[in-house]
Amino acid sequence: MGLKFDFNNMFDFSVREHGVSQQDIAEALPQAQKSAAHLQKILADPVLRVKLNLEWAQLPLQKEEDIADIQKIARQIAKKYENVLFLGIGGSYLGLKAAQDALCAPYYNEFKSLRKKSPRIYFEGNNLDPDTLSVLLKNLNPKKTFVVVISKSGETTETKAALILVEAWLKKTVGSKYGRQILAITDPESGSLRKRVRAEQEKDILSFQSMPLLKGVGGRFSEFNMGLMHLAIVGVNIRELFSGAKEMFCRSSQDDILKNPAYLYALLHFILYQKKAKSLAILMPFSQTLKSTSDWYVQLLAESLGKKYHRKIQIDKDGLENWLVNPEDLFNRGRTPVSAAGTNDLHSIQQNNVEGENNKVVTFMRVEKFKTDLKIPGKGDLLSGKSFCQLMQLAQEATEWALVSQNRPNCAIIIPEVSAYNWGALLFFFEMATAFEGELLNVNAFDQPGVEGYKNYMYYKLGKPGIPVAITEEINNKPLIKDPKYIL
Ligand code: PA5
Repeated sequence: MGLKFDFNNMFDFSVREHGVSQQDIAEALPQAQKSAAHLQKILADPVLRVKLNLEWAQLPLQKEEDIADIQKIARQIAKKYENVLFLGIGGSYLGLKAAQDALCAPYYNEFKSLRKKSPRIYFEGNNLDPDTLSVLLKNLNPKKTFVVVISKSGETTETKAALILVEAWLKKTVGSKYGRQILAITDPESGSLRKRVRAEQEKDILSFQSMPLLKGVGGRFSEFNMGLMHLAIVGVNIRELFSGAKEMFCRSSQDDILKNPAYLYALLHFILYQKKAKSLAILMPFSQTLKSTSDWYVQLLAESLGKKYHRKIQIDKDGLENWLVNPEDLFNRGRTPVSAAGTNDLHSIQQNNVEGENNKVVTFMRVEKFKTDLKIPGKGDLLSGKSFCQLMQLAQEATEWALVSQNRPNCAIIIPEVSAYNWGALLFFFEMATAFEGELLNVNAFDQPGVEGYKNYMYYKLGKPGIPVAITEEINNKPLIKDPKYIL
């Protein structure tokens, strides 16, 4: 059995004027149908898919043979090394971390029996805070550590800085052949990491092994591509994961929007955003192991839909669509995602969810069956004889009730159990819903120009050559104001 979706609390019959009415649906459907047809047209066209960065939708269709090489390398790494250190940030990190937490045992690194024959896993290069990396490098044995660096562009400062440091660390102990302990996952053709791979392999073919990223797949949509090496190393059943994603591919390709879970999810959120000013998306998994999956979705939603301009579709000389921005058509909007976990954050953000501004929609992720259960022993206490699963589910239901009682819209994704199959389906669902919401909002959901601002500023201050004059002028003409009067 696959995922189920409960949208009852999104409607006005549950949350009154804060919910979607049948009239809202009727009014939105014609435009939504056009959006769905447009999305389906692109998804069915192999050239457009790559050109417009929607090739991610094909990833679950990869065959066993396509991933055989990855699994072979993963087995060799797992056999030889005690630790694997993954370097990457954003879309080159969050999916892996989400998979690690959802699909590997909790406390995986701490206990050998939980890891079975797989190595310990560490994630770095996702922050410029020196404290975590320095502690890790002081404590890991370089000879027993394999490094996987993931960067599509190969230019990202956080990842690059970590790689340079880790290389020096490896070289010091392992010697000049240290590159044999590094695998790079990067663009097949361009970028400085790809260039480096080529140069290293010319010197030593066993050095800087590499795995190419597929064309037309952006970072945050790429877990089923760049995450595969990680999944194979920790022993996740990739076939099962793809089966779940494929099932969701079929369910979310249905034309009937009201029967298509990804489209309906996006449409209801779109209506609540446009008509009822629900601008915050609170993601609340009632499962500790899915917290990082909601962190992954935060990036997906924020980078895909928080945009300055509307999309402008142009047809090029070959008759193909081009997506541009229309500087005259300012958007400057996008729902703001917040990741909060049940039940931890019931003692935190829940107060605001229930009594603060009614500008939010909560998405629950409810797990029907946990891998284990714990029965509370004894007699005489209210909790005696109850199980943790029972309490968890009751807590989710109670949270739902508390929100509905205050007319706060919410919906639930019901997950039979956290398995590779269901997790694959869950990710694909979110990806499809985000792509469809991008269509509804008429924004390009597959770029992230807003991230460039801080990068450009850093590059400029670091003295990187070749920064366009327009950018350097903007930085110089609009410096940060630091009036000492306001620095207390
Ligand atoms: O979704 C995206 O494309 C971004 O979040 C990137 O994944 C992130 O910026 C890291 O980029 P890169 O893989 O090029 O280092």
